[in-house]
This record gives sequence, C-alpha cells and structure tokens, in this order.
Amino acid sequence: MSILVTGIGELVTNDPAHGGELGIVGDAAVVVDGDRVAWVGPAVAAPAADDMLDVQGRAVLPSFVDSHAHLVFAGDRAAEFAARMAGTPYDGGGIASSVRATRAASDDELRRLVAARIAEMRAQGTGTVEIKSGYGLTVDDEARALRIAREFTDETTFLGAHVVPAEYAERRDEYVRLVTGPMLAACAPYAKWIDVFCEPRSPHAFTGDEARAVLTAGRDAGLALRVHGNQLGPGPGVQLAVELGAASVDHCTYLSGADVDALAGSATVATLLPGVEFSTRSPYPDARRLLEAGVRIALATDCNPGTCYSSSMPFVIALAVREMGLTPAQALRAATLGAADSLRRDDIGRLTVGSRADLTVLDAPSHLHLTYRAGVPLARVLHLP
Ligand code: NIG
Ligand code: FE
Repeated sequence: MSILVTGIGELVTNDPAHGGELGIVGDAAVVVDGDRVAWVGPAVAAPAADDMLDVQGRAVLPSFVDSHAHLVFAGDRAAEFAARMAGTPYDGGGIASSVRATRAASDDELRRLVAARIAEMRAQGTGTVEIKSGYGLTVDDEARALRIAREFTDETTFLGAHVVPAEYAERRDEYVRLVTGPMLAACAPYAKWIDVFCEPRSPHAFTGDEARAVLTAGRDAGLALRVHGNQLGPGPGVQLAVELGAASVDHCTYLSGADVDALAGSATVATLLPGVEFSTRSPYPDARRLLEAGVRIALATDCNPGTCYSSSMPFVIALAVREMGLTPAQALRAATLGAADSLRRDDIGRLTVGSRADLTVLDAPSHLHLTYRAGVPLARVLHLP
C-alpha cells in the first residue's frame, strides 16, 4: 500500500541532488510504498497514492541513526553519576557493577529493558539503533545479550572486550584468549560487528596490542570492526582503527594532530558521543576541526548506564552544536547520514527513492528547532497507517 505524506513544511533528504548540507526541499511530499520511499519532491508535483497523511507544515527528517548504544543491561549507576558530578573521575571501574546486575537478570527481564529503551528512542525520533553486548563477559552471558539484541536490530556488536572482568584481573592474557576464542565463536552467529574498549589509561580496558588481537580475531571470524578509542586520554585506538579499516572509531575525545591526519585520509568514521562528555564532565572534542580536516563524522548517544544514560539524539545534536562547534545542519547530517555511513548502510539516514521509509517528524517548521528549542520533545518517528 502506498501513502502520500504531504504538508511537509521542510523536508530534509540528505540527497546532494537537492543541494546544500541537508538536501532540503520546501513545501514537500513523500510517497511511501511498503517500507520504502517511492517518490520525493515538491507537494505540487506529487503523484496519487492509496492513502494520504497531512503533517500540516511540520518538518520531516530521515529518522536518526543511533550507531552506538549499549542497551542490554540491568540496574543503573545513578550513585556513580552523582559521585562523578562531585568530582570523582570516570575510569570504567563501574562497569563491573552493571555486569553483576546483568548476569543476575532473566532473559525476559533483559528483553523488557531493551524493548523499553528502544521505545524511548523511537519516541525521540530514532529509527535505527546499533546494540552492543559487553555486560555479560562470560561465553553464555555475551551470547545471550547478542541473541536478545538481535531480536531488535541487525546492527549487533560483540563487545566481550569491554573490560577485563574481576575474575580475570590477574590473568588478562587468559581473558583475551577467551574473547578471541570460545566467546567469539559463540557470539559471531548473532553479531555483525566486533568492538573493543581500547584505553590503556583505564586499568580495566584494553591496550593497543590486546585490542589488535581482539579485532583481528573478529575480522577472521567474518565480523566488521568498530573501536572505542581515545576516550579518557590520547592513545592508540584511533590509529589502530584506521590501520585495520574499522568502519568507525568512537569517542575521539582526545585526538592528536596525527590522529586527525590518519582519520582524514581514511574510510573510518569518527563517531562523536557528546552525551558522554556531558555525563563524565570531560572536555568536548572539536568537531568543526574534524570536518575542516575532511574527516567523516557521526553522532550517537552511547546510551549506557555508566557514561551516558540518555537515549536522546536531539540532546546529542544540541550538545554537538553548542559544545563541539557544529552548525545545526552539520550536526543533523552527522546524526543521520554520518551515522548510517559508520554502519556502512546506504539505505538509511536519507530520504531518497529506494531508501527505507524511516521518517521522523518534528513538531516544528524546521530542523533548526532541534537545537534552538533544546530539551523540548519535538521529534518522533512518524507512524504510518
Ligand atoms: O562507551 N567506554 C566504554 N564503554 C562505555 C561505558 C560503559 C559503562 O561505563 O558502563 C562507553 O562509554
Ligand atoms: Fe560505548
């Protein structure tokens, strides 16, 4: 069945054919056929369809692509957040408490928690979400997290190398062998990606050499690569990601000139997570500098119980504009097209003929209101009849 969505005051297509940063079409219409976009253009030229929906002058965007989220966890760490706001720095040590709570939860409990978090995301305009494991850290608990994540998205990421769990603290090598051996074998059937928390500054996370071992094993098992890098200080994560051809290196809070140069000449997307800088009281990276250097950037929430328990892409966009030097258009592009690019997807993050019909509507006439009216719940995924 086809539906004509009309009365669109401002349509963001991200299609270069329409010009500008966002390929905006004014007074626009979109025809959706099944789950795909069938036609895009000015409303006056729209073809007939089986049904019609008038959005009465509102702005319509490609749904946000949240390309980095850790949704499979139980419990929360509000007390850790409060301590951080009082001055205790983040070092990844709190992950152990989420691991304990997650291991103790039933499958159904975890499923309910993930479903609720995804509903929260959709109510704020997110159409696609990537979900990582990483709070199980045993063969069975990691495989379970990915099996549950797979019920909700194709973009699943094996993050057995999130931290070295307490029971392996004195046997790091053994844990890396577990992750790259039996755990990888059990998880690969449910995962598209492998990720690693490469952060030599955290005693809980992984060194450059350990991260290399994890990523190359994942690649050999047929998974594509993502990296958590340069979050807590300068480090090897970014350059390792570029060298191994990772689709994305995420955080990028502390970048050297050499890191920026490496990213600029590569197909690796720098995924920025300003909700993390917000929730850990860290300095924001300069996103404008990255764009000027020719780096491909994405924005995502990193929704997780430790460093950013927010599921809101509009919040992330507003932070990126206010704190990272992006224009509202650059930030919206990074949260849609850029994030799709980081997942190596060309069917989302844009509204062009043949792309997925993931439409987000704003209770506002233009995308500028996302930042201009920060904190107001304007965005939601458009539910088509
Ligand atoms: O992306 N940095 C590593 N992992 C998560 C935080 C996980 C947690 O603290 O629970 C992140 O920030
Ligand atoms: Fe993360």
